Amino acid sequence: MQTLVLSGRGRRWAESGHPWIYGNDIASGEAEPGEVAAYAAPDGRVLGHGLYSRASKIALRTIARGADAPPDDWVERRVADAVALRAQHGLLDARGACRLLAGDADGIPGLVADRYADVLVLQCGTLGADRLRARVVDALRAALPFALRAVLDRSDAAARRLEGLEPRVEWLAGVAAGESPGPIEVCEDELVYAVDVEGGHKTGHYLDQRDNRRLAARAAAGARVLDVCCYDGLFGLHALRAGAREVVFVDQNQRALERARANVERNAGAAGRGGAERCRYERADASTELRRLGEAGERFGVVVLDPPAFAKRRDEVEGALRGYRELNRRALALCADGGLLVTASCSYNVLPPVFLDVLRAAAADSGRRVVLEEYRGAAPDHPVLLTLPESWYLKCAFLRVR
Ligand SMILES: C[S@@+](CC[C@H](N)C(=O)[O-])C[C@H]1O[C@@H](n2cnc3c(N)ncnc32)[C@H](O)[C@@H]1O
Repeated sequence: MQTLVLSGRGRRWAESGHPWIYGNDIASGEAEPGEVAAYAAPDGRVLGHGLYSRASKIALRTIARGADAPPDDWVERRVADAVALRAQHGLLDARGACRLLAGDADGIPGLVADRYADVLVLQCGTLGADRLRARVVDALRAALPFALRAVLDRSDAAARRLEGLEPRVEWLAGVAAGESPGPIEVCEDELVYAVDVEGGHKTGHYLDQRDNRRLAARAAAGARVLDVCCYDGLFGLHALRAGAREVVFVDQNQRALERARANVERNAGAAGRGGAERCRYERADASTELRRLGEAGERFGVVVLDPPAFAKRRDEVEGALRGYRELNRRALALCADGGLLVTASCSYNVLPPVFLDVLRAAAADSGRRVVLEEYRGAAPDHPVLLTLPESWYLKCAFLRVR
């Protein structure tokens, strides 16, 4: 195995526990792209091992810290641990859905694996992850308590380009080339929703908000609910099932709204009497729609605001913070007295305390008395590696508004 020697700055960074080693912190050495390499302090002491990339600014993604090389079966062990963790959280019902592997936080850098019922969807973001793909699928098949019907490689995220890799979408098993299984149905609580694993966002669905939706629904009985940036409508759908008087779904993406509508229709029984008639769908820009509703004097018992990541790069953070502040000020103004604003940010460049500062400023702007009831992250199948702040990407605040 090859060893790369870090600069003094690289050593200090590696010893801080952050798992990514940047190319400009490597003083000497070369390794095989996509393979495991050791990295050492300037005095030659081995500090850890990682998957090497020559094309990316992130040259090494750590798989093991310390002098010992990882065992030959490190992938299989990590997969088994990750599956055991999901089992502990009760997430392995064969008809349900969860994230099985969350990249660095589950110890397999660059690789995400979600499963929707018995369909597995992989996302490889690095060459190292590409090389591990077949091993990971075999290890998942061995560790899961149910058989996988199909496996899709949905490696089409823009981040692949930073690694010099082409996007790729291909069925690895269960679906013949040129064919499509159509939407995959998933059960969550008593609800059924469909996931477009080939064309939907990310791997098809936002699994990270699962528990936040359940908590938001507790405030929905009898309330008017506004679900802004609704995607396939799962916040609103849970609210409907909890007895919301009305749900208004807002998204600028027509296909997302169609999915939301289809999900409501799919759950006609669970949504209670007249469920579909209690829903409205607005294709609109979130900011424009929040302003329009405010000018029309509308009020809601629950407002959900779950926009896309505003700051995909560090230099976008300042503008993103202004955008979050404005949207949240408008959303707070729409809350009825005693109402709840459930507001999220999934920009990993905006750290949890910074998003809280933005909400504080929006609360001040709004002139309302705002109480922070909960400050949450993603569901536990999206673990956070504490030494990788970027893995705490989802923030979700529950704000009671007076
Ligand atoms: C993070 S996702 C929402 C996830 C969803 N709330 C859930 O629980 O699954 C962001 C959504 O915002 C929508 N979106 C992006 N820009 C928007 C805009 N300017 N106005 C309205 N919707 C927007 C996207 O189409 C996407 O559906």
